[in-house]
Order: sequence, then structure tokens, then C-alpha cells
Amino acid sequence: QGTTHGIIARYRDWLPIDPAAKVITLGEGNTPLVAAENLSDRLGGEVWLKVEGANPTGSFKDRGMTVAVTAALHEGATAVVCASTGNTSASASAYAAKAGLLPIVLLPAGRIAAGKLAQAIVHGAKVVQIDGNFDDCLGLAQKLADHYPVSLVNSVNRIRLEGQKTAAFEIVDLLGDAPDIHAMPVGNGGNLPAYWRGYVEYADAGRATRRPRMWGFQAAGAAPLVLGHPVLNPETVATAIRVGNPASTALAVAARDESGGLFEAVPDDQILAAQQYLAAREGVFVEPASATGVAGLLAKAERGELESGLRIVITVTGNGLKDVDTALSGHAALTGQTIGSAPVVPAALAEVAAV
Ligand code: F0G
Repeated sequence: QGTTHGIIARYRDWLPIDPAAKVITLGEGNTPLVAAENLSDRLGGEVWLKVEGANPTGSFKDRGMTVAVTAALHEGATAVVCASTGNTSASASAYAAKAGLLPIVLLPAGRIAAGKLAQAIVHGAKVVQIDGNFDDCLGLAQKLADHYPVSLVNSVNRIRLEGQKTAAFEIVDLLGDAPDIHAMPVGNGGNLPAYWRGYVEYADAGRATRRPRMWGFQAAGAAPLVLGHPVLNPETVATAIRVGNPASTALAVAARDESGGLFEAVPDDQILAAQQYLAAREGVFVEPASATGVAGLLAKAERGELESGLRIVITVTGNGLKDVDTALSGHAALTGQTIGSAPVVPAALAEVAAV
């Protein structure tokens, strides 16, 4: 293939890829696992951040999309469709462009971070804004794929989860075993069971001696998995996980139960505080939704619900540059600082030193 990088090249034996398929890759995966020393102190354990914002389009979605678009192209598709809160559409658009397929993306009107919308537009997607929420968009995307010759690349297309499980492989390959706890944000519910599958497959193959407890965190205003029923009008500043009726509810609940894990909800102000903390203390700039796992663990530690001495991996799912507006207003709320509050001085040493 001439393909020397990306998760399919690295983990092909673990993925359902036809040997004859042309691999569509942008070099996804192999993302940093960062030792989070400040967070380790605060949580009383050994904490690692799996920084998925370092993927080619800035989120974990690329791991699933290389597999989904490779399969769609091999099966003869000419167009792919997805519903998205932003990251799936950015990823689908980039991989479809690389494959020469037309990306079609259905987005909840006015509820997508600007960076993600820019990605879809610049990669040449046919962008349709729906007067509704993500759940409405997903229903429409499924119907489009049922009635028209377009391939659905949402995670209801289970091949996506096969690609996403490779993040768990990378963690075990690096740490030598699975952690005690794996925490992450949960929206449509696909990524948590994808990691679980990866951990289970590695343990079954003897590559890990154990499996982690899977801890999923949702925004309080969009927490159907915590409540145990769909939320009609999900609301959260973390737009990426503004999902009221997760398509992968059954898989996510099974992964929680099999792993002895949990789902918990976190209020928006704690999500934004965790986003600022990660940036200011760990050097990792993530989008709001991506800080939800960290926020959830901080809340549990504060309530005395976190044993000490655990090895914890937290997936931070997307890059902070996708949504600078929310990051800056969150920062302004905490510190009063804005872009405008940075002084402008003449280009002279004395003036700069005086600031
Ligand atoms: N974090 C980010 C940054 C996301 O974009 C998403 C999902 C999640 C976490 C939750 O993952 O859905 O597998 O439980 N974003 C989807 C999208 C809904 O359309 O981009 P999940």
C-alpha cells in the first residue's frame, strides 16, 4: 500500500480490513500518553492523559474514520454521510476528501463550534444544518443511508468502534498493562465500549493481565446514561457531547457493567474549570467536552470517592483549538483576562520590560 503509518498499518491483525482494500489514512493514532503530575497529586494516584486531540483532524474520531472510510471505498461507495456535534463531521470530511468521496454532514444548526464547522466546509463537505439537535440529525442520516446510495459513517456503523479500540491497545503497549481505571467523556456512547473491546481483546490474547473499570462522565444537562432514560432537550456548554438519546446506549451500559464501572454527571462550570486546569497546569489544551472525564474524577476525589494509589488513564478526546470562543470566555470568567486585555506597546525594550 505504501502505507507505513496510521492505526491500520499498526494494528491490521486486530481489525476487520479486507486485505485487498486500499487503506485511507492520514497518519492517525500513536497519540501522546502524557504523565499528568499535578493531576496525580490532586487525585492521589498515577494519572495519564491520552491526548486524542493530537490526531490529524484533532479528535479521536480519526481512529474510527480511517477504518470506516477504507471500508466504504472498498465497498464501492461514492459518498459518505454522518450526523455530528462537530468532530465526526470534521473527521469524515477529511477522510472522505482523501479517498475522493463526497462527504455529507448533518449538523444541529447553530450548535457547532466554529473550528469544527470550518473543517467540514474547507474539506469540501456538503453541509446541511438541521433545525433540531444531534439526535434528530442522526435519525435523518440513518434514513438517508437507508434510501440513498450513501454510506453511513456514524458509530452506529460498528466498524468505527473497531478503529477506536486501538487507543486501548496503544495504552497497554506503552504502560505494559491496563490501568485500574479508564475515564472519559461520553456522548453518543460509542467510544467507551470501543476502548472496553480493545482492553478485553488484549487481555484475552495475554497482552494484558487485567482490564480496567470503565468510568464514563456526561454533562449534567445531557446525561441520559446517568439518568437511565433519554433526555428530550439536552443542554450543555460542552457541545460535542450534547446528545440526549445515545445510539450506543446498550453497548455503553454493557461495558460499564462488565468492567464494574460507572456513569456520572458533571455540571458545566466544573467542566470548564477542568478545561482551564488542564491548560494551565498540565499544558494540555482540550475542548470543553474533552475535560469532562477530568472534571468527573476531580469531583469524585473531592467527595472522597476515589481510592488512592490507583493508576488512572483519562482520554481527553478533542483539541482545544476547535472551540477557542468557549475557552476564552471560560478563561475570562476565571481570571478577567481576554485577548483584548493583553497590552499593546511600542516595539522598544524598555516599554516591553515595563509591562
Ligand atoms: N468528546 C468529544 C470531543 C466528542 O466529539 C465526542 C462525540 C465525545 C467525547 C463522546 O464520544 O459519542 O463516542 O460517546 N462526538 C460525536 C460527534 C457525537 O458527532 O462528533 P461518544
